Amino acid sequence: MSKDKYLNQMQKLREHASDILNSENFLSSDKNIQHGEISVMEHSIKVALKSLYLNEKYNLKCDERLLSRGALLHDYFLYDWHSPEHAGFKNLHGFKHPKVALKNAREEYDLSPVEEDIIVKHMWPMTVVPPKYREAWVVTFADKCISTAESIHFIQSAKRRKKYININT
Ligand SMILES: [Fe+2]
Ligand SMILES: [Fe+2]
Repeated sequence: MSKDKYLNQMQKLREHASDILNSENFLSSDKNIQHGEISVMEHSIKVALKSLYLNEKYNLKCDERLLSRGALLHDYFLYDWHSPEHAGFKNLHGFKHPKVALKNAREEYDLSPVEEDIIVKHMWPMTVVPPKYREAWVVTFADKCISTAESIHFIQSAKRRKKYININT
């Protein structure tokens, strides 16, 4: 995404969701890591920007306000999923967190059915029932693109760090 496009999508995000962006709980998710070195807050903003970008680029005719807000809240689980009580296969974070995010988001925001669908279905196909609304499909796809890029970036930087350490020892 070019700098101009990024600024344009960021402006839209502020227009539609400044209350979420400035809220205490959303800001607190900056202390929880999502993938690699990326916080949940940063990840959620990147997914929202990517969703807006895809909507504009492919003329998908999504409601931008619902798309922005649902994307920002899609991982609103508000805990550190790497902590002992949430990490590991037995804790099923991957399966459970959409419902936790929905519960948390409902407590603070008056959600539309589209926003609820975005949050609770974004892990599809892991969560078997597919998205119902176009906006939820876009966020589900954007989340996978961003998550993959974040994980690849982390693996590449870890390799670079290892190489650097080898060179300097
Ligand atoms: Fe998620
Ligand atoms: Fe996500």
